Amino acid sequence: MEKICFYNTKPYDKKYFEKYKDDFSVEIEYFRGKLREKTAVLAKDYDAAVAFVNDDINEETINILYENGIRILALRCAGFNNVDLEAAYGKIHIVRVPAYSPYAVAEHAIGMLLSLVRKIPRAYNRTRDYNFTLNSLVGFDLHGKTVGVIGTGKIGRIFIDICKGFGMNVCAYDPYPAKDLDVEYVSIEELCKRSDVISLHCPLTDSTRYIINKRTISLMKNNVYIINTSRGALIDSEALLEGLKSEKIGGACLDVYEDETDFFYEDKSDKVIHDDVLTSLIGMNNVLVTSHQAFLTNEALENITLTTLQNLRDYFDGKELTNEVCVKCANGEACEKENHGRCF
Ligand code: NAI
Repeated sequence: MEKICFYNTKPYDKKYFEKYKDDFSVEIEYFRGKLREKTAVLAKDYDAAVAFVNDDINEETINILYENGIRILALRCAGFNNVDLEAAYGKIHIVRVPAYSPYAVAEHAIGMLLSLVRKIPRAYNRTRDYNFTLNSLVGFDLHGKTVGVIGTGKIGRIFIDICKGFGMNVCAYDPYPAKDLDVEYVSIEELCKRSDVISLHCPLTDSTRYIINKRTISLMKNNVYIINTSRGALIDSEALLEGLKSEKIGGACLDVYEDETDFFYEDKSDKVIHDDVLTSLIGMNNVLVTSHQAFLTNEALENITLTTLQNLRDYFDGKELTNEVCVKCANGEACEKENHGRCF
């Protein structure tokens, strides 16, 4: 039975992996700490490591894992921008969970939007204090408004369907437009000019980093609402804060934040937060921050667990690694996968 070194464990991870581990004939040792340079050595004597979206899998981490015999690293998430794929190539196979519940993320995005637009968190706090006034709770109808969707992949297209259900007009920007999607594709500039609500559903790459910046914000309508459930660094947070302060931006729903690694998933309630941009954003009454939880549904956790364990089982059994990603195929270049079922 192979032994797995499981980093960055949360109670909900353990619950699902414990439920299914026997079906895949593996033993799992759970560690609370994140995978990073300092903790990589813990993987010595294990057959595989499992990590998450906010682990720091840089070149040094990769090399320490490799020196300690690790040849497979399973990400229990879709994104892999936290992994130095170049350093891993030829040494450690990186497998991931490409899709676990696009519905979970799309539904969270729309949930955040409704909460903010209809001021539900504020109303909830009021009624808990038996304050039943409606002053300052005026929202607006989503029906008839235009939503601009950046990235029309698995999550973006579900988000589009939900928005259409609300009677919203939809436009989209994606350098690889989907042919089977009934949506009007426009340039990023046009999307910024037209949209009352902008929602990000693209991956974080060199070309999408800070796609929402001072320039694109300047093109937007006054009172625009921005939703980010994708990756924090898609938005220049300082430019966002400026836009909110100047009242150009009407509201922001943020499930992700560019410097979230030190904060998200941790209880910092008795600590001083040394990130003035984050505290300013959280302090604004037209900003709603959740802690990278858009994926967090029972259905998604079940899929994450089953796919991660299957990825590992396939590796141990010498099979093809369908969900492997490497520095080549991630950039659209050919790797060994087509010929040999594995990236190298
Ligand atoms: P996907 O790969 O199905 O779709 C991504 C889309 O973005 C594709 O259509 C692609 O063509 C497009 N794209 C690529 N470059 C672009 C660019 N420069 N500008 C605009 N669009 C571009 O990915 P999926 O499953 O829809 O996920 C989207 C993102 O959601 C992920 O990359 C991840 O960052 C984020 N995510 C967040 C979660 C959370 O819990 N908050 C959970 C899961 C994913």
